[in-house]
Amino acid sequence: MNSVTLQSPLDMHIHFRQDEMLRRVAPLSALHFAGGVIMPNLLPPVDTVERLLWYTQEVREALNGAPFQPYMTMFFRDYTERELAEAKPHMLGIKLYPAGATTNSDGGVQEIRSMHHVFAMMEEMQIPLLVHGETHGFVMDREREFCEVYRHLATTFPRLRITMEHITTQDAVALLDEFENLFATVTPHHLIITLDDVVGGMMNPHLFCKPIAKRPEDRDALLDAALKAHHKLMLGSDSAPHPRSKKECPGCAAGVFTAPIQLPLLAELFNKHGALSNLQAFVSDNARRIYNVTPPERTITLSNTAMTIPESYAQDVVPMWAGRTIGWSVVS
Ligand code: DOR
Ligand code: ZN
Repeated sequence: MNSVTLQSPLDMHIHFRQDEMLRRVAPLSALHFAGGVIMPNLLPPVDTVERLLWYTQEVREALNGAPFQPYMTMFFRDYTERELAEAKPHMLGIKLYPAGATTNSDGGVQEIRSMHHVFAMMEEMQIPLLVHGETHGFVMDREREFCEVYRHLATTFPRLRITMEHITTQDAVALLDEFENLFATVTPHHLIITLDDVVGGMMNPHLFCKPIAKRPEDRDALLDAALKAHHKLMLGSDSAPHPRSKKECPGCAAGVFTAPIQLPLLAELFNKHGALSNLQAFVSDNARRIYNVTPPERTITLSNTAMTIPESYAQDVVPMWAGRTIGWSVVS
């Protein structure tokens, strides 16, 4: 029997949604994680202090006392200095979406360069900027093209801490070593799948997400960085629940649901590559250091005991690899 024990795993990019979906999915993250970064792309978005405080309360109620620290975010817009000062104590950072890049992001930024005054204030106030980094170009090139924007932001605002969210390309991995103030999250699914798994055979809507999974060489570069627990890289699942009816239909919504199966997937993957000893840094230590956060103390043990991934969670949310048996599971 092979096993690994993790201290306070953190999921640094999660979609909890609201209402009934929130009440169903938040406890699933709290099963295995000590905390996580909660994304603000609701309708309407979380973009006022009032909505931030309201949403925080909603999330806390859904967690129902579970030892899980929600690190809240606000949706980027043209904020005043006063708004930023009021919000800062209640959040981890601000998430920027290019307009229309993904689910519920129509109110995102049209022109990054017109927002320099906001970045300058965030830099001064030490508020991290979290970014969905895709242009509106050809789908496979969107992230690579956005690397120019990351370069521009990182050099123009050298003290602004910028997280490239859910990176999917070797180009983004390379940026981590180029700029001191760039960090990144990566999802478990982008460490495992490529575009082939989404549309190479029978189309799999449950693996369709933004940014779309890329080429084998991109997946391998991400995996390489994760397996060595690159000190600027954190686990961020981008777990994005949509009801089955919004996934198994024409116009399928983007998002892969992985919240309850991430740690088994990762333990199996890291074990396969002889890197289990780096899993703790990848799933917790790097994030604690990068964001200077101290989550609740929790211990999660996994072993190479097989588990079959349920056909659905939270009533009708289909997870990645539903029905498949994988080699590792959480034992306590
Ligand atoms: O696939 C995605 N789904 N990517 C995102 O960036 C957002 C997410 C969602 O909210 O469904
Ligand atoms: Zn996301």
